[in-house]
Amino acid sequence: MRVLSGIQPTGRFHWGNYFGAIRQYIALQGNEQAFFFIADLHALTTIRDPKQLLELRIDAALDLLALGLNPAKAALYFQSDVPEVTELTWLLMTVTPLGLLEKCHAYKDKKAKGLPADAGLFTYPVLMAADILLYDSDIVPVGVDQVQHIEVTRDVALKFNHLFGEVFVLPEARVLDDSAKVPGTDGEKMSKSYGNTIDVFEPEKKLRKKIMAIKTDSTPVELPKDPEACSVFTLYKLFATVEQQTALADRYRAGGMGYGEAKQALFEAANASFAPARARREELAADPDKVRDILADGARQARAKGAEVLARASDACGLARWSRAVR
Ligand code: ADP
Ligand code: TRP
Repeated sequence: MRVLSGIQPTGRFHWGNYFGAIRQYIALQGNEQAFFFIADLHALTTIRDPKQLLELRIDAALDLLALGLNPAKAALYFQSDVPEVTELTWLLMTVTPLGLLEKCHAYKDKKAKGLPADAGLFTYPVLMAADILLYDSDIVPVGVDQVQHIEVTRDVALKFNHLFGEVFVLPEARVLDDSAKVPGTDGEKMSKSYGNTIDVFEPEKKLRKKIMAIKTDSTPVELPKDPEACSVFTLYKLFATVEQQTALADRYRAGGMGYGEAKQALFEAANASFAPARARREELAADPDKVRDILADGARQARAKGAEVLARASDACGLARWSRAVR
């Protein structure tokens, strides 16, 4: 049973990404054979600054490792380090109906806004299908927004199998629990696109500044406050024990506590909670060879499996291996 997922390095990871996705991926490692990759080919559809993309890719690797992704339990690799994935993309593209891609939301949303879309964005779901099918993946943990892409993956796999025989394993989405939507500093869902994020590895001073700027209502200090209606408390719950949560909620309800105090409690809890990861990240950043080895090893594992499945697909559709002796 293989679990596979990918995450785009399009910005530094924020608390929403961590609690809504990364933490849950990491919890799955070890139970099954796990592959996790940094979807840098996908990121190229939005990031056009090479220096920025290079930095974000490395940051993503350091962040994931520091947050607990364990290379002994899960292969971690850059998507672009597996050339088999782009070759498979082409094979899949030849059986993908245009209509299927026209329905996909990334492209549709852009088109609806009248923005120009390129072929990379249009065919994004086919690359994603290749990411998944290349390794006989069984389970794909993703956020709700990606479920449509898993359905496309299944449709494309079925079509290929129908034409050429049972080549691909049909993957299943495992939808991540995002019931606890992490609010941003303005109270809306935390998201890069809203500019309301708090990053996991925010430097301490900036972390404090962002927390102190979280939007709250104007209830005077002396009056009781409703913890459940306050984003500071919602965020505090992500880090605090049940006892700590009850203690702070009681203080909200009793009155006499200003939001500044709740923000200070949140700052301390968040800072302490990410302190070990921050220390691990510093160690890793000081040892780039180690990180490079981890990624190279992950890519080797991915390529070994990928070459096997690509050969199966190529053989099935008439690009048999005897004519491909160079591989
Ligand atoms: P952004 O909205 O900042 O662009 P992404 O769409 O790149 O974030 O998110 C990657 C994953 O992180 C998503 O699959 C989603 O499950 C999770 N995620 C993002 N923001 C939140 C949030 N505010 N609360 C819970 N989960 C989130
Ligand atoms: N498109 C996904 C996202 O934006 C990232 C991704 C690329 C992915 N390929 C994948 C996720 C394959 C799961 C499986 O979140």
